[in-house]
Amino acid sequence: MASDAGIPRHVAIVMDGNGRWAKRRFLPRVFGHKAGVDTLVKTVLACADRGIEHLTVFAFSSENWKRPTEEVSFLMGLVLVAVEKYLGRLAARGVRVRVIGDRDQLSERLRQACDQAESNTAHNTRITLWVAFAYGGRWDIVQACRAAMRDGVDPQALDEATLARYLAFGEAPDPDLLIRTGGELRISNFLLWQAAYSELVFTDCLWPDFDDAELDKAIAAYAARDRRFGLVKNAAPAQAAANRAC
Ligand code: FPP
Repeated sequence: MASDAGIPRHVAIVMDGNGRWAKRRFLPRVFGHKAGVDTLVKTVLACADRGIEHLTVFAFSSENWKRPTEEVSFLMGLVLVAVEKYLGRLAARGVRVRVIGDRDQLSERLRQACDQAESNTAHNTRITLWVAFAYGGRWDIVQACRAAMRDGVDPQALDEATLARYLAFGEAPDPDLLIRTGGELRISNFLLWQAAYSELVFTDCLWPDFDDAELDKAIAAYAARDRRFGLVKNAAPAQAAANRAC
């Protein structure tokens, strides 16, 4: 069983299926992304209500730049609209927003919107929404290595804990539960380092249809998991002592 009374501290979500959701309604794909933002806002608040401390969502991957130009532009514009429409509501409900990803790839206007979202909510403590935008797990590891080298970290002294401090989350806990909607069974370059011991839940539900019931189903699946982090289950006394020493 999960050791934290069944509620993960940190949930990460690959919000997949927006395009198919729109297609099923004979709408252009971008309508799915628009509906996806509404689902995201509801999901942040539902997570906060359940005592989840961190929610990380994959909003735009390093690979998404290869999508048709109109869709990329729409997604960029959607961030600006979402900040305008929802930031006040999220801030009032105790949500702290952090954006992780390669900001050098973003326009000045978008960088300002990210800065605004972060500074307007910096004092909030109820839940942190980490928006992964222009983000890729491989990019994160490379940028962390570069930053450590810039700081002059001695290669012999570089260990996992040191490198983790340079990764996008910094001191935040690793995700306990990683959910992917939309039916695909892969991680797609999301949180490659941080998801090493995350429990994975895949659902066929398309992201715009994700609701409280789907969230609760994923949490229930997580609560039923036996998290061992590479240790031995029901260890005999000698093994238990060795486990504790790890
Ligand atoms: C994957 O669905 C989804 C995305 C690439 C974008 C997800 C973005 C949002 C929900 C909006 C987030 C916006 C803000 C402001 C943070 P897909 O297009 O790959 O769907 P498909 O697999 O059905 O084609």
